[in-house]
Amino acid sequence: MTPRVPRPGGPGPGEGRVGLDAVETASRDELGALQLERLRATLRRVYDRVPHYRAAFDAHGVHPDDCRDLADLARFPFTSKDDLRGRYPFGMFAVDREQVVRVHASSGTTGQPTVVGYTAGDVDTWAHLVARSLYASGVRPGMIVHVAYGYGLFTGGLGAHYGAERLGCTVVPVSGGQTERQVRLIRDLRPDAIMVTPSYLLVIADALRAAGTDPAATSLRYGVLGAEPWTETMRAEIETTLGIDAVDIYGLSEVLGPGVANECVETKDGPTIWEDHFYPEVVDPIDGTPVPDGAFGELVLTSLTRQAMPVVRYRTRDLTRLLPGTARTMRRMERVTGRGDDMMIVRGVNVFPTQIEEHVLRTAGLGPHFECVLTRPGRLDELTVRAERREPDPAAGPVDPGSDTDVAQELRRRIKEGTGVSAQVEVVSPGTLTRSLGKAKRIVDLRVRALDTTSTERPAGT
Ligand code: DLL
Repeated sequence: MTPRVPRPGGPGPGEGRVGLDAVETASRDELGALQLERLRATLRRVYDRVPHYRAAFDAHGVHPDDCRDLADLARFPFTSKDDLRGRYPFGMFAVDREQVVRVHASSGTTGQPTVVGYTAGDVDTWAHLVARSLYASGVRPGMIVHVAYGYGLFTGGLGAHYGAERLGCTVVPVSGGQTERQVRLIRDLRPDAIMVTPSYLLVIADALRAAGTDPAATSLRYGVLGAEPWTETMRAEIETTLGIDAVDIYGLSEVLGPGVANECVETKDGPTIWEDHFYPEVVDPIDGTPVPDGAFGELVLTSLTRQAMPVVRYRTRDLTRLLPGTARTMRRMERVTGRGDDMMIVRGVNVFPTQIEEHVLRTAGLGPHFECVLTRPGRLDELTVRAERREPDPAAGPVDPGSDTDVAQELRRRIKEGTGVSAQVEVVSPGTLTRSLGKAKRIVDLRVRALDTTSTERPAGT
């Protein structure tokens, strides 16, 4: 959609500029110098203050002084989720606990959760980065922002909240869930922007329709959507259904929360990484070797300004690639297609739920709600895609997408051709599948009970 640039509250900070901050368009040289200075300070800080890093650097035979160049970072050891778990709850803090004004956590369904801490300065930086992200999304001071990310230990709600307030918006802190109330507040308070997971936004759209409101006719103009993988096809579905510009916001609690990277509404070509605060690398997910920009792999992030809990070379498990800047000089990442943990291996073929999403959305007669059910009837894994029929659109007149069997066959064919996987397909009536109020749970793993393996951790996100 064409971005509109309304100014309900008059010109705000950064108005007339490309982004909220001049640094977003600094030259690569200026940015590199800033990154190096901040990186060296971060390495020194963690070495002096966090026993884990001192031990890990020593074991690796590196010292903060060895970092003379940004490329030298590759000589330092990675940090993994297990490292954070092993020092639960406060063992990775680089400040006294008394200086930590806030904690968030990812709620592990199994094992140890991880806790992240923020100083007052960190909360301030975070609010600023979310404000910058909102500005890049098209949101302006004076607008009303409906926050439907979950408030609580999940970073989505409070992260979005502080950022929207910082930008000078009116925040409606709804949190996730109570969908009827979301509908009512959207109708009554007339927000300009919504911050929510893409999957829950579709649930809200269905509820708007059920309440007699055309989802495309609300006051909403911008959606700042993330916390889960979603595809270009899903963006098109959301933009058409809701009549908004939908942009991708990326982040993770271990590194900050939302606002590590955000798409610019003028290009919508993958999140711009806020490189003045995070140094990105992409590595081979198997052996950890750095790969050049443009090549796919696992995103590794180093925080450059965090005080309470800096992270050095944190393995995100998110698969993407680094791309040159377009709307900003800072580099972009391709939208995350999936996490290593979410990859399904069906008879030797790797497939991600996002690939299935593409095919579901391209199949006439199917709506955007689906799940991937994994079973192991014999020795091999089987995938059944359960996809909901689309609610008939009275405005579209009579259309005949065919019987459930035709639609299932069509989806099976598309998945086979697109991914190489032979999946079973079950077409179910609208409203059958469980709706998530935050991050969508796309994989239903029925193999777990049989195998007694540990299930993957999913932050609640609600
Ligand atoms: O999901 C932070 C967040 C909140 C981001 C609200 C955006 C909006 P965690 O719960 O720690 O933090 O989960 C982080 O979610 O490693 C990715 O796998 C996934 N994720 C987050 N944003 C995106 C996105 C928040 N835009 C994990 N696209 C990350 C794809 C995303 N995956």
